[in-house]
Amino acid sequence: MLEEIDHVGIAVNDLEAAVKFYEDAFGAVVVHREVIESDGVEEALINVAESYIQLLTPMHDESPVAKFIAKRGEGIHHIAYRVDSCADALKSVVSHGYEAIDPLPRPGSRGTTVAFISPKSSFGTLIELVQE
Ligand code: CO
Repeated sequence: MLEEIDHVGIAVNDLEAAVKFYEDAFGAVVVHREVIESDGVEEALINVAESYIQLLTPMHDESPVAKFIAKRGEGIHHIAYRVDSCADALKSVVSHGYEAIDPLPRPGSRGTTVAFISPKSSFGTLIELVQE
């Protein structure tokens, strides 16, 4: 069911500084940028083979990423697994008695369909399911 690691989400205060670090240190290339209004974040995606690093910065204090940084500081925010069907994967999680944050799949960035699983169920790691 888990096809690939789609991306690792990293919460940062200064998106431009974080992008500059990856560009300078690793010659990395930003392949996509997007403001995701529903999550209150701006992202920069950096390509790593078939996966991405997703640098995320909050747009305002109510953003879940702002709350994450306030509580735990900058750093790894979530891991995203690529799945064939977000709906099927979400059903599997819920039908086995585990807690989803999103009751139904919803639009993510770059035209994907996503759903988040609660870290309470997944041993402290926020999991995102991504269907391309
Ligand atoms: Co993500």
